[in-house]
Amino acid sequence: KPTTEKTLKDMPFPFGAAVSASLLRENSSYKAIVIKEYSSLTPENAMKFGIIHPAENYYNWPDADEIVALAIADGKRIHGHTLNWYADVPVWVKNFKGSAQDWENLLKTHIQTIVSHFKGKVASWDVVNEAFEDDGSLRNSIWVQKLGADYIARAFQYAHEADPAAILFYNDYGNEYGAEYTSKKREAILNLVNSLKNRGIPIGGIGLQMHTRYIQTDANISLAITSATATGLKVHISELDVALNATYDPALVYTESLGEMQAAKYKSIVKIYYSIPKSQQWGITTWNVTDGDSWVPGFFNVPDWPLIFDKQYQKKPAYQAIFDGV
Ligand code: XIL
Repeated sequence: KPTTEKTLKDMPFPFGAAVSASLLRENSSYKAIVIKEYSSLTPENAMKFGIIHPAENYYNWPDADEIVALAIADGKRIHGHTLNWYADVPVWVKNFKGSAQDWENLLKTHIQTIVSHFKGKVASWDVVNEAFEDDGSLRNSIWVQKLGADYIARAFQYAHEADPAAILFYNDYGNEYGAEYTSKKREAILNLVNSLKNRGIPIGGIGLQMHTRYIQTDANISLAITSATATGLKVHISELDVALNATYDPALVYTESLGEMQAAKYKSIVKIYYSIPKSQQWGITTWNVTDGDSWVPGFFNVPDWPLIFDKQYQKKPAYQAIFDGV
């Protein structure tokens, strides 16, 4: 009975995916899932510095504009990603010569041009992404080198000036690390976020990327989510995927039992998330749509199947598990 079939739009909080402008243009099966299932979209790459601002006086809007238009036409929310990141810094910025004031203007102009362009359309932004190393130290990015550690606070202020209604997030990975790493990264992230909040910097939320694995423990995931919730800010699980290739085995094959264990992990993540106060639930976004467009196999250079749809655009057990978590 297609008319009563549930989609992820029926979830009790926004459920989104990171999407590619080129796949939306070129792949109708992909596009159909995106339109049908999600209530929120994050451009996977289209709003990153190197793509949207590839030359000093040139902004490349079409990819991002197309994603935003598709979302608006379908009543979907847009989460912008990302105004500042250590990676994907274009060559013109790397080669930029100028005074401290020139660098400050570069940061401010970049942020405010983009936020203004999408004002009233993009509901929330990842303002700063991945500012910390895995040991919890501040990453020595070009931004820290040129602008000092407190550029993070100013980035939030610049974004807020350009669109006071947008909810502004600090986004990072590794909050759920426990066994694999130490708790230092989580503590550094929470210290930063709490200090911004206490100083009156306009931060509205914390993004937990949650690129995770089926072997991750529920206890670590729970600690990540509840400690973020304790900041009082909105919590977005912003880049969820549950990888299956825990040993980086180049010959691993997908099995039904791996798929079931993955589904169980998706279900626990949703369940833990759904237990936080409703007012703090910004939503859950998966990073990509199907196993075929997942960034994970390319990034780790081994086979993997981290998502809730398979390469044939079919629902995996993890898809149903999302509904079972609430
Ligand atoms: C990844 C994209 O998925 C890839 O297509 C791109 O080549 C590199 O970036 N954390 C983030 C995302 O915040 O922006 C990254 O996205 C994945 C890790």
